[in-house]
Amino acid sequence: PIEHELKHVELRAGDQFKEEGRIMDEVESFQIDLGCDEDNLALHFNPRFNDDTDGTVLVCNSMIADCWGDEKREIHNPLQRDSTFKLMGNMFEVKMPDGQDFQFPNCEGLDVITYIRIKGDLKLFHLYFF
Ligand code: GAL
Repeated sequence: PIEHELKHVELRAGDQFKEEGRIMDEVESFQIDLGCDEDNLALHFNPRFNDDTDGTVLVCNSMIADCWGDEKREIHNPLQRDSTFKLMGNMFEVKMPDGQDFQFPNCEGLDVITYIRIKGDLKLFHLYFF
């Protein structure tokens, strides 16, 4: 399992980044978190492969002052690696390798994302900002 933190990024509306990695064979879950610090996340993107309730599921949430918000679950979960994340101002748009788009509201209305964390059963190869 990996944990990478980037603390002084600056992602604004229209900015995108792409993560490319490989999911490990014994994958339980991994997460990609965007926000201003580890307690304040505008997007927690958390594909799970062995969830107690849903098994294979994509879980998303936000966090304010260390408290989770309303969880959003998408039951179909193709392996969500090599995804492109785009901050649209009022929402995040995630493009997944199978061509599907996933959207999550920018609940806290964060204008600038300064913190990115990538964690879990994933090998991270590249991170591109564009
Ligand atoms: C919790 C889990 C957290 C986070 C959250 C998302 O159950 O412990 O790591 O994934 O769900 O709603």
